[in-house]
Amino acid sequence: MTAFLRATLLLVAAVAVAPANAEIMADGGVDWDAAYAKATAAVGKLSQQDKVNIVSGVGWNKGPCVGNTSPISSINYPQLCLQDGPLGIRYGTGNTAFTPGIQAASTWDRALMSQRGQFMGEEAKGCGVHVLLGPVGGPLGKHANGGRNWEGFGPDPYLTGVAMAETIQGMQGAGVQACAKHFILNEQELNRETISSSVDDRTMHELYLWPFADAVKAGVASVMCSYNKVNGTWACENKNILNNLLKDELGFRGYVMSDWNAQHTTSSATSGMDMTMPGSDYSGKTILWGPQLVSAVNNGQVAKTRLDDMATRVLAAWYLVGQDKGYPGINIKASVQSTHKDNVRAVARDGIVLLQNTGDILPLSKPKKLAIVGSAAVVNPKGMNSCVDQGCNNGALGMGWGSGTSSYPYFVAPYDALKTRAAADGTTISLSSSDATNSVASTVQGADAAIVFITADSGEGYITVERVAGDRNDLNPWHDGNALVAAVAAANPNTIVVVHSVGPIILENILKNTGVKAVVWAGLPSQESGNALVDVLYGLVSPSGKLPYTIAKSDADYGTTVSRGDDNFAEGLYIDYRHFDQKNIEPRFPFGFGLSYTNFTYGDIKVTSTATSGAASGAVGPGGKADLFENVATVTISVTNSGSVAGAEVPQLYLTLPSSSPAAPPKQLRGFDKLKLAPGAAGTVTFNLRRKDLSYWDVSKGWVVPSGTFTVNVGASSRDLRLKGSFDVA
Ligand SMILES: *[C@@H]1O[C@H](CO)[C@@H](O)[C@H](O)[C@H]1NC(C)=O
Ligand SMILES: *[C@@H]1O[C@H](CO)[C@@H](O)[C@H](O)[C@H]1NC(C)=O
Repeated sequence: MTAFLRATLLLVAAVAVAPANAEIMADGGVDWDAAYAKATAAVGKLSQQDKVNIVSGVGWNKGPCVGNTSPISSINYPQLCLQDGPLGIRYGTGNTAFTPGIQAASTWDRALMSQRGQFMGEEAKGCGVHVLLGPVGGPLGKHANGGRNWEGFGPDPYLTGVAMAETIQGMQGAGVQACAKHFILNEQELNRETISSSVDDRTMHELYLWPFADAVKAGVASVMCSYNKVNGTWACENKNILNNLLKDELGFRGYVMSDWNAQHTTSSATSGMDMTMPGSDYSGKTILWGPQLVSAVNNGQVAKTRLDDMATRVLAAWYLVGQDKGYPGINIKASVQSTHKDNVRAVARDGIVLLQNTGDILPLSKPKKLAIVGSAAVVNPKGMNSCVDQGCNNGALGMGWGSGTSSYPYFVAPYDALKTRAAADGTTISLSSSDATNSVASTVQGADAAIVFITADSGEGYITVERVAGDRNDLNPWHDGNALVAAVAAANPNTIVVVHSVGPIILENILKNTGVKAVVWAGLPSQESGNALVDVLYGLVSPSGKLPYTIAKSDADYGTTVSRGDDNFAEGLYIDYRHFDQKNIEPRFPFGFGLSYTNFTYGDIKVTSTATSGAASGAVGPGGKADLFENVATVTISVTNSGSVAGAEVPQLYLTLPSSSPAAPPKQLRGFDKLKLAPGAAGTVTFNLRRKDLSYWDVSKGWVVPSGTFTVNVGASSRDLRLKGSFDVA
């Protein structure tokens, strides 16, 4: 086959998988112009009441979905179905419970992120859901204990931005509208519906807005404004964030919907909000649009052209992903799982981070006797879905709690999978499925290894679990996990600690037990928990996850705490590793860290650049000014698997701005890749740096590339930098 023919066939294949009639191009880009042409024509046929119906939800608990609008038969527009959430269908019975966002981030694997998005999109479409309410780019996670951090992709905006874009393109390529949420500065659960967040303009751009820019660049159909205020004005009524930042600066052409009950006045229409959800408050009394919007338009409070714009944006997003042709009817409980559990297992497995492995205790090799300890080793004895919205921490932990959850179709707990494997190996297995310390010695004594399971959970603030009202109260393991590990390690010198957690916990008390030989950070694996864990514990694969946040030696080291009153984001740019670097604080395990069963050698760094200094320019397209997304520097390196087993490595590129730039974090993630390598094999990684990656935000000039020497560090974590290079920008 000639190269030309092959290229043509690939193109045909790419087109063939796109949904019929979608304005999605073969390169994954979207054609808003084509979608707008159809939407504008359709809006031209609508009455004012039709337009109001398109943008007004029709009530909480009144329709088949968590959000519903009325159908418009004249243009074959259906009753729109908006449904939670970021890891799959909430309230379904036939869907997959995908891994939470933080687990996808932990893989650092773009292909798995994209496939996860695609499969979630396929399931949503199969259920007739038009808008699946995810992914989550906020909270970004400036507080290590933030209740909903696990729904998103961690506190680095670059990693979160990549994950957002991959998820959105996967979902929308499957024909479902994505919703980037929560916009913006919604970093905690405590007082989330009254708190005002204010952040300086530079930090807004370099941290919190960054992932949303990537979402817009990826063509996201909708954005959800958040509950909190920004600078004293409700996020859903805030012109500065909705009109100025999102629509004008980032060139967002889709629609902004309110978080559920986050609208406060009818005039939010003039601030940039385009759709109200759920349409009335939970008690059904205060309706702010619907008939009120009709009056506001009639008395000139909201311009007719603005109502047209709102309706056009909603319809354009619907056309954009091809939902005007042959879309399935709504059935939230449809059976749509297909083989999607393979993605759950892969993400759960490849997101496992091996933190410690003293004396190569792992992988396990046919142990004669294995002891399993902890209530988190087994499925919740009351039933895997016995707690509404997963609002409890009983048994094995697969996700946090709240609206961003899903029922499990099945749950393979760690003990289930370990028992199966033990049977195959002829291993004797003993179990203590409680967190009581007095009985564990007899279970673990004499075992070749003892595996102890501990957890930390958090979620959305409308549910309180074991005195945790959303945000965690501290960074300790739950259920006195430190004492449990100490008791196990005192009785067995080969103790393996497995942590299932929504975010960082402080491991100091655990690591000081000499019996603790391995720490396996298994994150939030959802329904494939045990299978993923066995894959790694037994070396069917080498662990290849990397921490998507820093694990500190103490809570205080993170430098931020959940605010009791308004939050002025005084830490600015310095969150997570940016803060640890700036303040020279030694983390216990740095951002980006993760061990393998093999070793990787880095070499051959080459750096080239065509970058010029100065402010960004060019027309605004999705994501911002066009030249922000041009590649202006390239870094290549080689990575060799120098160990004896197959494995995957995540080389990470950290950039340091020249001294001419205003004070900036010592280094910032600006590239990563994941390479699967057989023993002895080598691969090349090419990092393309976009103009935006080299820029800082200047309050008057916008994005600016400073002049001087940029330093490039590439390594296996943010604190294990193996290769250094530089380039000069005049
Ligand atoms: C909020 O106020 C701060 C301080 O005055 C300002 O720097 C920032 O740009 C404002 N942000 C928005 C979105 O209005
Ligand atoms: C990796 O390298 C370390 C130190 O050089 C060595 O002790 C270890 O055996 C190597 N591991 C593998 C799997 O090759």
